[in-house]
Amino acid sequence: MKQDTGLRPAEIEIRGLTKIFGEGDRAVTAISRADLILEQGEFISLLGPSGCGKTTLMRIVAGLEYPTEGEVEVRGLPVWSGKRRSKKATKPVSMMFQEARLFPWFTVAQNVALPLRIAGVGKAERMARAHEICETVGLKGFEGHRPGQLSGGMRQRASLARALVTDPQVLLLDEPFGALDAMTRDALNLELMEVCARAKVTTILVTHSMAEAAFLSDKVVVLASRPARITGVVDIPFERPRTLDLQRSVAFQDMVADLRNQLQESHHG
Ligand SMILES: Nc1ncnc2c1ncn2[C@@H]1O[C@H](COP(=O)(O)OP(=O)(O)O)[C@@H](O)[C@H]1O
Ligand SMILES: [Mg+2]
Repeated sequence: MKQDTGLRPAEIEIRGLTKIFGEGDRAVTAISRADLILEQGEFISLLGPSGCGKTTLMRIVAGLEYPTEGEVEVRGLPVWSGKRRSKKATKPVSMMFQEARLFPWFTVAQNVALPLRIAGVGKAERMARAHEICETVGLKGFEGHRPGQLSGGMRQRASLARALVTDPQVLLLDEPFGALDAMTRDALNLELMEVCARAKVTTILVTHSMAEAAFLSDKVVVLASRPARITGVVDIPFERPRTLDLQRSVAFQDMVADLRNQLQESHHG
């Protein structure tokens, strides 16, 4: 029916998404009847206790895990038909994980260029692009280093660069900066926000930090566990571009308090 309206489809549309792992007595409902729509360039965060299905939801959108029920569309294309993934639908999607997952024997530039190599892009072109994106994420001068020579923050930068090297339209970030110190995290958040805004990337971030969610997002999706489900969506109305000063404002701190309340309610309700 959507085709008949002539409207552009949403960037991401999730309808009635359910994932159950295992069967019978051992069945675990990882996510239950989730609905979510993201427009192009929107930044949303998923906030919820461990085990409430955040990673599972992202993996289904990325085409790494099939749903038990429901639909996921990226730019109007269904990601799944049953257990079969559509490569075309997931082509504009990049996912970044909590741990950097870099190959230790590759240089930073080779790691960053890997998705292009897999896509069959020639060496000169992919290395040029890798160097460009390394500069964007603050890795200039480190292109020839091996991951073992980098700090944790630098490794996450490399991982972000690798996720961005294909010019994704959809970026899925699963607790990407959770293990970093506060200063490094602030710096990376600012860069992330700028990169996403400049390229109009549609982003889903999983975080345990209410302040990080409030700072980066247009919307925060609150999830609960047992059964794992979406319990609320909070709009974050702060003007963009945002600077770290925003975090000191009363309005911001009220927002963080509001998110904390919602999360606590969803825990107990
Ligand atoms: N491959 C799997 N097989 C069985 N159970 C899984 C698998 N992946 C996740 N789960 C279960 O699904 C639930 C949601 O997991 P997950 O999506 O990783 O949660 P979160 O990322 O919010 O911490 C958890 O109970 C987890 O144990
Ligand atoms: Mg997780």
